[in-house]
Amino acid sequence: MSEQGRASFGGKLSVILVAAGSAIGLGAIWRFPYMAGENGGAAFLLVFLLSIFVVGIPAMLAEFAVGRRSRKNAVGAFRSLSKRWSWLGYSGVLGAMLISGYYYLIAGWSLEYLFSSITGSLYSGDITYTNYFADFQASWRPLIFGAIFILMTHFIVSRGVEKGIEKASKIMMPLLFIILIIMAVRVAFMPNAIEGYRFFLSCDFKEAFKAETIMMAIGQAFFSLSVGMGCMVTYASYFKSSNNLVTTSFNVSLLTLMVSVLAGLVIFPAVFSAGLQPTEGPSLIFITLPEIFKGMPLASLWSAIFFFLVMLASLTSTISFHEVLTAYFSEELKLSRLSAAIATTALSMALSLLTFSSLFGIDYLNIFDKLTANVVMPLGAMFTCIFAVWFMSRNFMKDEITNNGQHNKNLSKIFIFMLRYVTPLLIFYIFIKNLI
Ligand code: PHE
Repeated sequence: MSEQGRASFGGKLSVILVAAGSAIGLGAIWRFPYMAGENGGAAFLLVFLLSIFVVGIPAMLAEFAVGRRSRKNAVGAFRSLSKRWSWLGYSGVLGAMLISGYYYLIAGWSLEYLFSSITGSLYSGDITYTNYFADFQASWRPLIFGAIFILMTHFIVSRGVEKGIEKASKIMMPLLFIILIIMAVRVAFMPNAIEGYRFFLSCDFKEAFKAETIMMAIGQAFFSLSVGMGCMVTYASYFKSSNNLVTTSFNVSLLTLMVSVLAGLVIFPAVFSAGLQPTEGPSLIFITLPEIFKGMPLASLWSAIFFFLVMLASLTSTISFHEVLTAYFSEELKLSRLSAAIATTALSMALSLLTFSSLFGIDYLNIFDKLTANVVMPLGAMFTCIFAVWFMSRNFMKDEITNNGQHNKNLSKIFIFMLRYVTPLLIFYIFIKNLI
């Protein structure tokens, strides 16, 4: 279906599933648990929750508005609304590149774990998973599986917006929910699970007020909601003028929050039950979970199901930042969609190779990750908010939020107030505070 000659997603539900597909990914299942594990558990959850409502949703709305109004890729979108702001689109493209530099590799880890669960090699003999992970990292396999992941993403994106992205999200997202819920129930019956619930759900408020915790939680909210780097701008360019932006942003955020909490409810009880530490860092789910599966009957099956889920969730997210770059290359550099997708794929491979090789001994994974979540995305989101309410015409946000006066009239006042005075200032304050 097309509106103004451009591809567009189907109905209400499709739009929510596609945007939720972008949002829900490694951010919720891999990053959230280890961030919460390192930053005080429940305290982190609390600040994360607040960040979603105070900064995440308003910023997502601003991005939706920019994308749907202009119906262009991230750079074209800002440029068409105001020439002087096209740099903000480029910052999004840069963000998408930085993410591509490490996200595929981690998604590839889940693919490897899925593969070795299916073949049974992850559970044969006497394996310690810290060693397994270290050996895996020292081999070529991360690169190979990362490359396979890039190719899978390429395949879907090059099929186009409706047949590829929309169709994939509609099948994968509901499946993901079902699997996570089954896992959460299963884990509840493990010995000592209660310790995990305590860590994840009972709050030490002192921890919640640390600038570091707040910064990390806000970064997590941006990362997880895919906000602040042109991704939601690009996706919204395929929305219809009848889609309700407020309902969409609320649903996407709530679904993301639910999956993050579910992931926590699977992982923390499991971690404590196995007598492990929640502060393991990026390898958390890859070291702790196999340990837990191992003690369960049908270890390989549970493990395969879980890593299949991580793979699915990651795939709907990799699709979305691949699309940011593909749309940019095809519309700005006037390439065919296929050539644009190939260019993006080649670039992603090169960046993944850089990260994998740790050229000059640099920890690119960590640098790319912190740079996107704590610098590019917060600043990108802050300026998008400022742009939408201070530099566009007075009625721009109002018209987009209300679909030209049809609904959400009172809500639009609240959101515009937040976008003007609360959201950007808060991001700025935390950003500066954390800097010094
Ligand atoms: N939100 C995705 C996740 O949580 C990551 C992402 C960030 C995707 C930015 C697109 C843009 O995994």
